[in-house]
Amino acid sequence: MLNEKITNALNGQLSKELYSAYLYLSMSAYSTYIGLKGFANWFMVQYQEEMVHTMKIYTYINDQGARVKLRSIEEPPSDFESPLDMFEKTLEHERFITKSINELADLALGEKDHATYMFLQWFINEQIEEESNDTDIINKLKHIGNDGNGLLMLDKELALRVFVPPAQTSTGVTGQ
Ligand code: FEO
Repeated sequence: MLNEKITNALNGQLSKELYSAYLYLSMSAYSTYIGLKGFANWFMVQYQEEMVHTMKIYTYINDQGARVKLRSIEEPPSDFESPLDMFEKTLEHERFITKSINELADLALGEKDHATYMFLQWFINEQIEEESNDTDIINKLKHIGNDGNGLLMLDKELALRVFVPPAQTSTGVTGQ
């Protein structure tokens, strides 16, 4: 059982996760366009992970007998200055998502909704990993600077990222 405030906030978070997927799909498309297939792969995996986040919230709202209401999704940017620009925008966006998850957790505690608070713990941990991965790549890109060979080596590294589908249970997506 979810109250109206929590249901609204979860639907809001669902749309933010869907926008995240859309943003990273746009970055993947841009990376492909400029010939960086490894970067394109990294962002495509990120897109898939964001769809998992979206569906975790979708399933949770349904499992709690509340109503999923989809909202309009803003158009993501389609042009970027450089790979560094893409990752700086990624980190900035993930910090915004972390803040949003934290506010949701605060709301769940305030409403004494322990089930939702517990549900959000997975997202709180996931955000630590996401911000850390982005920071790591930003640092590498800063070291690389204008070195084309360094950029191609990083492109090869990012080509190795693999999407790991989440485990499924009778109630839906559980984790990754
Ligand atoms: Fe689902 Fe990248 O936050």
